[in-house]
Parts: sequence; C-alpha cells; structure tokens
Amino acid sequence: MQQIRQGEVRMAETKATLSLPDKGSVDFPIKKGSEGFDVIDISQLGSHGYFTFDPGFLATASCESKITYIDGGQGILLHRGYPIADLAEKSSYLEVCYLLLHQELPTQKQYDEFLTDIKTHTLVNEQVVNFFNGFRRDAHPMAIMCGVVGALSSFYHDAMDVSQEKDRLLAALRLISKVPTLAAMSYKYSVGLPFIYPRNDLSYAGNFLNMMFAVPAEDYKINPVIEKAMDRIFILHADHEQNASTSTVRLAGSSGANPFACIAAGIASLWGPAHGGANEACLTMLEEIGSVDRIPEFIKRSKDKNDPFRLMGFGHRVYKNFDPRATVMRETCHEVLKELKIKDPLLDVAMELEQIALKDSYFVEKKLYPNVDFYSGIIMKAIGIPTSMFTVIFALSRTVGWVAHWKEMLEQPGHKIGRPRQLYTGYSKRDYQPIKKR
Ligand code: SDX
Repeated sequence: MQQIRQGEVRMAETKATLSLPDKGSVDFPIKKGSEGFDVIDISQLGSHGYFTFDPGFLATASCESKITYIDGGQGILLHRGYPIADLAEKSSYLEVCYLLLHQELPTQKQYDEFLTDIKTHTLVNEQVVNFFNGFRRDAHPMAIMCGVVGALSSFYHDAMDVSQEKDRLLAALRLISKVPTLAAMSYKYSVGLPFIYPRNDLSYAGNFLNMMFAVPAEDYKINPVIEKAMDRIFILHADHEQNASTSTVRLAGSSGANPFACIAAGIASLWGPAHGGANEACLTMLEEIGSVDRIPEFIKRSKDKNDPFRLMGFGHRVYKNFDPRATVMRETCHEVLKELKIKDPLLDVAMELEQIALKDSYFVEKKLYPNVDFYSGIIMKAIGIPTSMFTVIFALSRTVGWVAHWKEMLEQPGHKIGRPRQLYTGYSKRDYQPIKKR
C-alpha cells in the first residue's frame, strides 16, 4: 500500500486512515448518512493521544439525527424528508410540529388528538404573572422570555422524569402550547396592557395574534391573510438541524436537566444578533440605511474588516446558496404588503439592497445570500409586531425544533453527556508564590 504522507487522511469504503506522527497509520470507521456528508467516527482518537480541533464546529457533526436535512450548496431544507416549500404551502404549523416530534405526518385522527392535547395546555399557572411584575416595563421581551420560560421548570419539576417517554412528550406539548402565551404576555407587559388569555376556539396562529393584539375593551378581528402569514412564519422557523440554539438545548439536555430550563438556554442562544437576533438587527439596519441612495455606503462598510458592521440578514454558515426559507418568506412578504396596502419604504430599501448584494462581487464570491431573517422582519413589521418581538416569535416557532431535538437526543441509544475537549495553551505547572514575593 502506498505510504501515506504524515498528516494525510485517506478515505476507503468504510474507513479513513490517518497517519499520526510517531503512531503510524490509524484507521477510523466511516458512518454513512442517508443524505449529505458521511462522517469519520473519531470518538476513539483520544486513545491515540490526539483530539480534533474545530472551534465553531465548521466540520464537526455533534450527533446523529433524523429530523432535518440541509444541503447548503443546493439550498435544500427537508423536515423528515418533506421540502420546506411544500410544508409552507400545503401544511400548517401544528401539523409540522407533529411531523417533527413523531417522524410522520399525522392522520386526521392523530391530528385531532394532537390538537386537543395542545389546546389542553395553553394556559400558564397564574403564579407566572408575578414573574412579569419583577421586570422593568422596558425590559427586552427576550430577556423576559429567558426568565419566564426557565421559571416554568419550577412548576413542572417534581412530576418530570426525562427518562420516561410520556413525561418527555408532555413537556414537549406544554412548551409548544405555553410559549405563545408567554410570548404574547411579554409583549402586553412591555406596553402596559392587560394580558389576554388564550382562546381554544382559534387556530394556533389566530390565538397568538389575538393574545398579542386583542384588548378587553373590544373584539379583535383576525385577518385570514395575516393569520396564514403568521402560521407560515412559524413553519419557516420551526427547525434547522444543529444551529447554535438547538445545539445549546441538546448540550443542556444531555445532563438530564429540566426541559423548560434547557429551552430557556436555547432562547438565550437564539437572542444573539449572529443568530435569531438577526431579524431585529436587520430591521434596525434597514432603518439606519433609511433610503436607497445610502445603500452603497453600507455595502462598503460591510466589506471593511476594520468595521464590525455586517449586512444583517445576509450570509449563513451552511447555506452557500439562497436560503429556501427566504424564497418563501419573500413571496409571503409581498402577499402581506399587498393585502394591507402598505407601501413600506423599508421594503424598497430591502429589495434594492438584495439586488445590489446579489450582484456585488464580494457577496457573490463569499456566497452571502439573504437568509430567513432578511424578509421575516419586514412581514412582522407590516403585521404590527414591534421589532423587539421579532426574535421572540423566532423562539416561539423554534420551540418545536428544540424539543424535537432534545427528545431525539435523550432517546438515542447510549446517549452521553456532552463534554467537548480543548487545546490547552495556558501555563504549565508552576509553584505558588506568596504575595510578598510577587
Ligand atoms: C440564523 O445556523 C443556522 O441554521 C441559523 C439559522 C436557523 O434557522 O437556526 O438559519 C438562523 O441565525 C440565520 C443567520 C442570521 N444571521 C445574520 O444574518 C447575521 C449576519 N450574518 C453573519 O453574521 C454570518 O453570515 C453568519 C454568522 C450567519 C455566518 O457566519 P460564519 O459562517 O461564521 O461565516 P463568517 O462570519 O466566517 O463569514 C465568512 C466571510 C467573512 O469574511 P472573511 O473573513 O472570509 O474575509 O463572509 C463575511 C465575513 O466577514 N461575512 C459577511 C457577512 N456574513 C459573513 N460580510 C458582510 N455581511 C455579512 N452579513
């Protein structure tokens, strides 16, 4: 066999061979996926005196999963094999929730039972109201959501045994049902208006819109176009394989922690402007740009390595092609603005920015395309949702993805607590010096 050069990796049919300094050639098994990249199982590498090094997980699979498949080069997103465009057009968020949790689309009977289960848990304990009163009225709704969702772990702790499937499913149902209620409460609290209780006679999206915009003094009329757009926004944000917040939930859950606390950790991770906070940051950026004629100035800044400014809503770790969710979101954006007869100058800026960026050599070479956050903010602004609530709605939508991955992780045979290793570059052993000698 041809001598493998030091540090070279050779992939045969079922194994990769790594030539290690002073260790010779070592074989590692290759695990084959049903779609996408196969993986080299390096779990035994430590016994050969080495760890791999991959900050940011650019080329590291943290788990095996059957929930969502993304092909970043082709712009493909499948939930349990179903293309996102088909689900957005033909399905509903609750049906997608069932699919993500149970691997198959529900029969009518299964769907009806699931709907009943969801409606059974939409209320939150009245004691939760007291948690809101501890926040300033101008608290960011994501700060409130981190607090109140985590607080639910104090209401469902004793009766929660994550090793039992029925308890895992009940936690999933409670989270999918209660997060919209808490999300709407975080909005009402920020504007000093009374909380609106959930209504089980409304659809999932309709109930959320009602809790957001109804007031006790008068009825709120749900616009079916807005209701459908809201449900589609929920679908498009439902899951996205091992993104930062989902990986956070998996890692938190791997210790057996309370699922409500794990989802609160996911909310915290999602809040960052590089992740779910990008939709809010995108609208703030469009407002800062203000007019089409200022776009070149901001495009120039986004290329300047000395300027921290980035085009929010552009780029993606995995998609090096159009984000298929952005394509659907763009259509929905135009439907909503047409229905509401809104001429939004920000949309003019957004559309011009999209056209310029798609033709600019910097963005083309770096494959920076508009992502899901680019259009969702404009739709939500048109619906009357304040910018500070955009990431809360992303968290509401993603709750099903988080709980589906949390459940899958716990149900994986032989699952272990997540505990990454490191490359240590600090001091070697040294003697303590008393303060008089320092
Ligand atoms: C979401 O992971 C998921 O799946 C996330 C998500 C989900 O559904 O869970 O899809 C949701 O978070 C979408 C992404 C939303 N974030 C943004 O829109 C914020 C703006 N985008 C960037 O911050 C960035 O594109 C990331 C964070 C999304 C991806 O960053 P990477 O993969 O770490 O890539 P990088 O930062 O190393 O960028 C590669 C190059 C760099 O230039 P060089 O160092 O190679 O010269 O592209 C440049 C970056 O400077 N670049 C940008 C840019 N994004 C990357 N330059 C200008 N504007 C941008 N938006």
